[in-house]
Amino acid sequence: MEKYIINGGKELFGEVTISGAKNAAASILPGTLLVDGIIRISNVPDIHDVQLTLRILEALGAACRYIHRSVVEIDCRKLKSHEVPVQLGVQMRASHFFLGAMLARSGEAGSPLPGGCDFGTRPIDQHLKGFEAMGASVSVQNDCVRIRVPEGKKLHGADIRFDLVTVGATMNLMLAAVLAEGVTVLRNAAKEPHVADLAGFLNAMGADVSGAGTDTVTIRGVKALHGGEYSLIPDQIEAGTYMAAAAAAGGSVKICNVIPPHLSCITAVLKKMNVQVTEGSDFVQVTGDGRLKGTDIETAPYPGFPTDMQPQIGALLCLADGTSSIHEAVWADRFRYLEELKRMGASSEAEGQHALIHGKPGLHGAEMTACDLRAGAAMIIASLATQGKSEIRNIQLIERGYQDITGKLSGLGADIHCERQ
Ligand code: EPZ
Repeated sequence: MEKYIINGGKELFGEVTISGAKNAAASILPGTLLVDGIIRISNVPDIHDVQLTLRILEALGAACRYIHRSVVEIDCRKLKSHEVPVQLGVQMRASHFFLGAMLARSGEAGSPLPGGCDFGTRPIDQHLKGFEAMGASVSVQNDCVRIRVPEGKKLHGADIRFDLVTVGATMNLMLAAVLAEGVTVLRNAAKEPHVADLAGFLNAMGADVSGAGTDTVTIRGVKALHGGEYSLIPDQIEAGTYMAAAAAAGGSVKICNVIPPHLSCITAVLKKMNVQVTEGSDFVQVTGDGRLKGTDIETAPYPGFPTDMQPQIGALLCLADGTSSIHEAVWADRFRYLEELKRMGASSEAEGQHALIHGKPGLHGAEMTACDLRAGAAMIIASLATQGKSEIRNIQLIERGYQDITGKLSGLGADIHCERQ
């Protein structure tokens, strides 16, 4: 079993470069199925979720080739299947993004249902409602979902209002709509940076998507998409994770290759916690003395405070002065990491979507187990700020979404390494 070993209590100094956005790659890579040509994608993060997505594309018949560690060339002109292999699809919640692209490409698609995970079930009813509105029929059997356009019919545009803001359904329906007959309007759409990045990719290949990044996205169907090149945006959550690490450990870190407006909610919370954050055109500088003030946060769809930063800030609040509260408004149960942080002496109570955190200095090292990607990042952050040795198991969950996290942190002066037994 592999684990991270961290000897904490050291301040962090220097520069770290952020990789491409995991959650942009999650929809843009499946989106290459729509393209009648060769696509070159750059700034692709070298993480497990991307490697798995490329394996699924190859299982469908695509040719994928790394030009460089972060540049991949994809050719989907010859496909041999429209079904995501179950043994691959179940390994990643985001495999459902293949449904929209494959439906648009082949008129039929299949994928395992996203399994439950650490913070509750992952329903896709809004995705399926949208596909049906566009003329597809949906069936769910043995934990697999299959959608198809009836014989002789074509996927057509529709006016779809989501019952709640959903990043996945917004992106999945964008993918389904780009080659459909007519116009599709998505209302109450998600506005995350990676939604706008997907629209940027599709339009670079000849699609006609407007309004992405607002709550109403309009997609006018086109006949075909052509090949080309595209570069992913930097990862907002990876950047926020290093901002939180610098705030927790103290020191001064320059976080490069970011888009500061994507980080404004995270910056605002850190400033409330007595952390200095200055912004450049494509970097933020985070400086702290490790003494943090407690605060209250509530997660919300973008541009609100991102749920994917909730565990990382929760770790900071465990170290801060005073009692803080967290309202996790997006997921039903995203506080399991607090139970793990109690092994370090942290004090908190969580109930449903609310948690109270009684911050205190002087936590101690502990052995912990990552329960999901961002929970694992929270445990790393708390360990970096704490004198003594900590161990974190289940690191494959962390490496799903963070490229070379031990190398990047070591480059800032952290004492962290991976023990592979
Ligand atoms: C995406 O998940 C991200 N994953 C998640 O990041 C992130 O937490 C989430 O968006 C919210 O920002 C990827 O992009 C690969 P949603 P997604 O659809 O699309 C409910 C990470 O750590 N809902 O916006 O699955 C759902 O239960 C991961 O990088 C329905 O009820 O999230 C949740 O309560 C974790 N029905 C809320 O909406 C649906 O059909 C938001 O879900 C869809 C969603």
